Amino acid sequence: MTDNRNKKILLSGLKPTGRPHIGNYFGMMKQMVDLQDEYESFPFIPDYHALTSVQSAEEMRRDIANVVIDFLAIGLDPEKVTLFKQSDVPQVTELAWIFNCITSMPYLMRAHAFKDAEAKNKEINVGVFDYPILMAADILIQDADVVPVGKDQKQHVEMTRDIAQKFNSIFGETFKLPEVKVIETVEVILGTDGQKMSKSYKNTIELFAEDVDIVKAVMSIPTDSREINEPKNPEECHIFALHKLFAGKEQLFEIKDRYEKGGMGYKESKDILIENVKKFITPLREKRKEFANNRGLVLEILKKGGLVAHRRAEEKMKEVREKIGITL
Ligand code: ADP
Ligand code: TRP
Repeated sequence: MTDNRNKKILLSGLKPTGRPHIGNYFGMMKQMVDLQDEYESFPFIPDYHALTSVQSAEEMRRDIANVVIDFLAIGLDPEKVTLFKQSDVPQVTELAWIFNCITSMPYLMRAHAFKDAEAKNKEINVGVFDYPILMAADILIQDADVVPVGKDQKQHVEMTRDIAQKFNSIFGETFKLPEVKVIETVEVILGTDGQKMSKSYKNTIELFAEDVDIVKAVMSIPTDSREINEPKNPEECHIFALHKLFAGKEQLFEIKDRYEKGGMGYKESKDILIENVKKFITPLREKRKEFANNRGLVLEILKKGGLVAHRRAEEKMKEVREKIGITL
């Protein structure tokens, strides 16, 4: 066990909604691994958030276990961190209700995720609307100092700060204001079509993809009709955007130079990318196979983490219940 005294608290969630992709990895998962020694860390699986879109018990069960295995495969150490699932801490739904009562509808309507969902889908569920409130409860109930997320989640953490301030101003100082931690050099990872890489756009390269799927994903990147010898602007090329993640410094410089001077065709550029992605993914995929199917381990980790997270949340809720006046 690690000595966590005096360490700041770091918390972030990864929804069990299908296979993670390299956008999830560079945006959030890698940070959880890189920071596990420096912080007292709480990586968790927001299964109640996933319920806004995953409404099959079989899928939910499968993907919760998968997230645990994925985290182990990339090097998260369950001896150092508290890895748990949200539903093992039912106090977060209790706190979410309390936050619902101090947050206005027009405020929640400003959330980007809600606006996007509303623009695409008329039958939007109340869970999607209330999503930032549940997320604020996740963060504030554990007294998190730092929340590492991809840029798309930044607004939710800012809303969490607002909600904490609102509660503190009504009921007295109770919650810490968490800081958001976005890796500035990475920010949003673009997918094979140049939009934000996202499961919902089907433009991903999966983090544990098999070689054939890596080839398929890279080959699907659209390019213009410029010939091999024509100069190209690397910043306008979706292949190049991905080179930035996988090529070494020198190789990246050389690729850029050859784009600008002419002489680098899109086929060659894709072949280089495929090689680099394979080199990166193969060891992760192998590692994952060692943990996959070890259901006993998954259950044991979640049980242990759930107990710790539950105990901390209950302690915080005692204070909250006192503050709002429901304990006599
Ligand atoms: P998706 O959009 O594929 O459904 P999630 O919303 O489940 O992904 O995101 C999980 C975590 O990964 C969040 O912290 C999010 O900010 C991060 N993330 C997702 N997509 C990207 C991306 N394209 N670039 C950077 N970070 C990302
Ligand atoms: N909303 C996050 C996402 O879509 C997942 C999440 C839920 C989360 N609760 C959180 C992230 C608390 C950080 C902190 O990716």
